[in-house]
Amino acid sequence: MMTLKSPREIDIIRKGGKITAGILTRLAQTARPGMTMRELDALTERWIAESGALPTFKGYRGYPAHLCASINEEVVHGIPGERALKEGDILSLDLATTYQGYVSDSALSIGIGAISPEAERLIRVTQECLMLAIAQMQVGKRLGDIGHAVQSHAERHGYGVVRDLVGHGIGKEMHEEPQVPNYGTAGAGMALRAGLVLAVEPMINEGTEEVAMLDDGWTIVTADGKLSAHFEHTIAVTPNGPKILTLRPHFEHPDVERYRPQEEFAA
Ligand code: MF3
Ligand code: CO
Repeated sequence: MMTLKSPREIDIIRKGGKITAGILTRLAQTARPGMTMRELDALTERWIAESGALPTFKGYRGYPAHLCASINEEVVHGIPGERALKEGDILSLDLATTYQGYVSDSALSIGIGAISPEAERLIRVTQECLMLAIAQMQVGKRLGDIGHAVQSHAERHGYGVVRDLVGHGIGKEMHEEPQVPNYGTAGAGMALRAGLVLAVEPMINEGTEEVAMLDDGWTIVTADGKLSAHFEHTIAVTPNGPKILTLRPHFEHPDVERYRPQEEFAA
């Protein structure tokens, strides 16, 4: 089901988004060589419990953790376990929380210690893909404009755009309509309307777009074993342009300042 959100609902998602983004920032500041993903999940559980929000992933279709943590060739949905970080890894952290009945969903990729120039470039271009997608989220633009923005920027750099997983509408449910592919044709697809809230999440591979699922039934990896990066924001389409509801205090692209919501824009 697709729902358009009122300014009051968007304001609730913004408050919840601040919680999601704050926890992601703390996780990104905490991750270091030697740490296991299970430790990061335990911190996530504690920080959510202290926040006034509820975990959204735990128990979702049987998902066993609070956080998705995907290292290097893992694209998304890595289940936090005993795998430990090492210097030079790239780590993608994906978190959703539910606040006053509304879900906010966000992700980022970071380097652990010093990483290769190739890995730096993949992370930078993936974050740029998300910013270019957000810039398209204007009333009257179309879903295809979002996907086209991601795809053209990624492919210009020789990267593969993951097609098997997509972004999504978000609200009372984590996954609402419409689906938001990271590829598409400019000017095609559903027209964007004020009140639409989308989780846009480019997953970009250093090599081919091909992915596979591990035997754990969750972890998505690149088929060629090369690196993958992931950035995600929850964003509202408003008459005043796109508003990012999951802005982080750190690890942001400078362009986010254009899309910062007012603290209280609900009447
Ligand atoms: N953030 C992911 C998404 O947008 C959800 C992770 S799957 C879960 O689809 F099982 F962990 F919830
Ligand atoms: Co999502």
